[in-house]
Amino acid sequence: MLGWAYVYSMANAGRFIVIEGGEGAGKSRLLAALGEQLAAEGREVVLTREPGGTPLGEQVRSLVLNDAAVGDHLAELLLFEAARAHLVATLIRPALERGATVLCDRFAASSVAYQGCGRGLGREVVERANAIATGSLAPDLTLLLDLPVKAGLARRAGEGTANHFDRETVAFHERVRTGFLELAHESPDTWCVIDAAQPFEAVLNAAIAAVG
Ligand code: TYD
Repeated sequence: MLGWAYVYSMANAGRFIVIEGGEGAGKSRLLAALGEQLAAEGREVVLTREPGGTPLGEQVRSLVLNDAAVGDHLAELLLFEAARAHLVATLIRPALERGATVLCDRFAASSVAYQGCGRGLGREVVERANAIATGSLAPDLTLLLDLPVKAGLARRAGEGTANHFDRETVAFHERVRTGFLELAHESPDTWCVIDAAQPFEAVLNAAIAAVG
């Protein structure tokens, strides 16, 4: 009986799609366009972002992204994780349970890349914290918008929306990029790397093809 109940609930579960990438890769624009496309197909689509997505998460966002860095890397990680735990519990899981498609701008892999690789906390501690915050919920699909670091930082500078991560060294952002690419190469079934240097239409088409 339990086995059937499990299969039944899985068959009715929604789909969890995450967009990841470094600075200036165009994640937010892709999220909006992909969301419109999926909604036009008649699906319930929930768009959200990290850090943020809930009132508490948005408060954490202003704490971790304002001009002054948190200072302590572990404290910074745990702030992201607190926002993540709240987002998963109050928005993502309920949406998936009612069958929605959830599109999220960044998720747990960002902590691996930024705090684990960029800050140097290491993957193990970040993956443990991620598992606690998410209850081991993993995306069904992660779209990685990959772009050379200098190109991304130049795009971001042009947008005039820099946060203190944007002002980190090029070496920091190279570690972040390498971290994302490692994760993608380890899980080719659930990650799709998209060349974000292409024109936006090509990026969107690649994303639509990956979502299927
Ligand atoms: P944001 O302005 O949303 O940048 P972007 O448009 O590039 O997503 O700021 C999010 C910043 O927070 C970004 O620099 C990456 C960082 N971040 C982490 O360091 N760890 C995390 O777990 C998450 C979710 C984001």
